[in-house]
Amino acid sequence: MEYFALYEAQGKPESDGVTHELIKFPNGHCSIRKVGRDGPLSESMHSSIGPWAEANEVYVAQSELVAKLKGQDTLAPVVIYDIGMGIAANALAAFETWSSLQLDRAIRPLHIFSFENDLSGIELALSSSREFSFLERHGSLAAELLTSGTVTLPDCRGGPGFRWTLVHGDFLKGPSRALAPEIIFYDFYSPAVSPELWSVDAFTRLRSVCGPVTVLVTYVAATAARSALLLAGFAVGQGSQTAAKRETTIAATEVTMLSQPLGREWLGKLSRSSRPLPADVDLQKRKKALETIERLSQFS
Ligand SMILES: C[S@@+](CC[C@H](N)C(=O)[O-])C[C@H]1O[C@@H](n2cnc3c(N)ncnc32)[C@H](O)[C@@H]1O
Repeated sequence: MEYFALYEAQGKPESDGVTHELIKFPNGHCSIRKVGRDGPLSESMHSSIGPWAEANEVYVAQSELVAKLKGQDTLAPVVIYDIGMGIAANALAAFETWSSLQLDRAIRPLHIFSFENDLSGIELALSSSREFSFLERHGSLAAELLTSGTVTLPDCRGGPGFRWTLVHGDFLKGPSRALAPEIIFYDFYSPAVSPELWSVDAFTRLRSVCGPVTVLVTYVAATAARSALLLAGFAVGQGSQTAAKRETTIAATEVTMLSQPLGREWLGKLSRSSRPLPADVDLQKRKKALETIERLSQFS
């Protein structure tokens, strides 16, 4: 991916010299990436379409947040797990969606749990908010989340409205069973950088805390990541395209929730793939894992 460092690395370096730096794409959009003493340690947090477009196109639109907030049959909050909070573009895009809808009509409350193990990225973004207009608009909310661990706002009628909870720590040690998510934004660095976060084990734990109708959206479309989701018990479908990604992924607890479930043609792709399965499927178990996927009801 093409980008260049905009500033020297800023933020509080950890004891091993790891910190974040701001980068700018040739089209002018900015993002953040992790750097160590010897150079970059991660990809940029966002693709070249920028954090705000990515948040709205890949996460908010695909999860059908608007329809869920307008849902008539319950007053229970829409619960979002924002996994890999980063600089909170996804969380704040969901907040802005809720915030503008509730001005016109009574809608369901929104409760976001943001999972993040390294807050130095968002601290850097908040100190450079001129590069991120959504942080210029909502930086005080994000700053309050970092200091208090939770933010609550009533809706414009004085009813329960918005709640944002920070879950600070390693996601692989959780997630908590507090409230089942209806929507999951799954946005970690790619499987090439952090294979353990795209493993059968990680998705199995996540599947175990889902409600009966949970949808998971992610920018990743790698075959091995989709296999991991399938082996963990999610139904998996093709997600929409963005200017930077040919395909994204939507998974769900029920195949009927997907408009484009992966079908038999994807099984062909799986059989031709040089990396069909995630790293936590042992070599001896690979054949059985592939057979398990082929027999799943979504492919019948
Ligand atoms: C691609 S960025 C997320 C971008 C983000 N969703 C946004 O809206 O800006 C991935 C984030 O996941 C965090 N992360 C990586 N491994 C983690 C782990 N094991 N537990 C929690 N957070 C983790 C990184 O620190 C990084 O901030």
